[in-house]
Amino acid sequence: MTRFTDWLDQRAAAREEAGLTRRLFASDAAPGHGGPMIDLAGNDYLGLTRHPRVVAGAVAAAERHGAGAGASRLVTGTLTVHEELESALAGFTGFDAALVLSTGYHANLAAVSALADADTLIVSDAHVHASMIDACRLSRATVQVVPHNDVGAVERFLAGRTQPRAIVLVETIYSVLGDQAPVAELAAVCARHEALLVADEAHALGVCGPGGRGLLRTSGLAGQDHVVATLTLSKSLGSQGGGILSTPAVRDHLVNTARPFIYDTGLAPAAAGAALAALEVIAEEPERVERVRAVARRLAKAGGVPEADGAVLAIAMPGPREAVDAVARAADQGVRIGCFRPPSTPDGISRLRLTAHAHLGEEELDHASAVLEGVLG
Ligand SMILES: Cc1ncc(COP(=O)(O)O)c(C=O)c1O
Repeated sequence: MTRFTDWLDQRAAAREEAGLTRRLFASDAAPGHGGPMIDLAGNDYLGLTRHPRVVAGAVAAAERHGAGAGASRLVTGTLTVHEELESALAGFTGFDAALVLSTGYHANLAAVSALADADTLIVSDAHVHASMIDACRLSRATVQVVPHNDVGAVERFLAGRTQPRAIVLVETIYSVLGDQAPVAELAAVCARHEALLVADEAHALGVCGPGGRGLLRTSGLAGQDHVVATLTLSKSLGSQGGGILSTPAVRDHLVNTARPFIYDTGLAPAAAGAALAALEVIAEEPERVERVRAVARRLAKAGGVPEADGAVLAIAMPGPREAVDAVARAADQGVRIGCFRPPSTPDGISRLRLTAHAHLGEEELDHASAVLEGVLG
């Protein structure tokens, strides 16, 4: 028998030894030298978390509906602000129906676990987000992981399957490497083999395609029967929560069967109100979307890496310690960059992860670029 506390100590020592210990810190309480840090790590791509209209949207919804939804959506927790947000999300992205949930994590758990079962083959890209991996485990389906962006491998497994149904899981913009999925080819393969494409637009919404309406809409795939999208309200929309975009039939199925939706209190009104306001701001100010991409191009140049497909840039480092060291040196100069180490990287390679933000001014961008060149040089 092992004492629980001994096991905790052993695990902590092993993490420390491998350079993989993580610590929480309050980011608002750790300013850089002489002022706030320049943020190249967070996911508030369009600078909307503190936008006055977005904050006002949160306040108005809380005043109208209260601090919480008060119950799960199927009991009394469906509010008009949810319906307004669902209609706005569907309209913005070109889908016929939307369903909002309390997080993007829940959105993936709900979509995959409700649409797959023991009679389903799930073909999953090797780089999908942890929430999709956990969703596969919940679904009881047979899971086949394929090499990253390998459309041929996807097709081979779909063609050779014995299960009546199949689902393909991808992210449209991958959260760690920041690259794009070949969505048009994947959707065509799914159509040929009667499979459903479930694509996570978490990092594409608000960033990719004209007006930031996502890669599925740009590729003409939004609203098609064999395509479902998941998303988060917590990145470009600056709020909190998740969503699933689909046909009305899929939405109806989710409302009736998706456990992470049914057994969870409805999305907090303030989060829904903020996301609704954020969608209005993005629609009225498409220049924010142009700006985030311009900032991403500039950072790619400074980091010596190819231009990103969205707002996420990844720079491979020799190991976790070098990554942590580069992050610390940048922080000392007032620039916060992300550090992704195993197990948060799909291929075991430690990386600096940079995110572009539309609200970075030219001076901040000049400083951030110089710091980046310095820590990498
Ligand atoms: C690709 C992807 N999907 C889903 C999520 C989960 O979204 P949320 O933070 O809203 O739970 C994230 C990150 O947070 C993500 O990067």
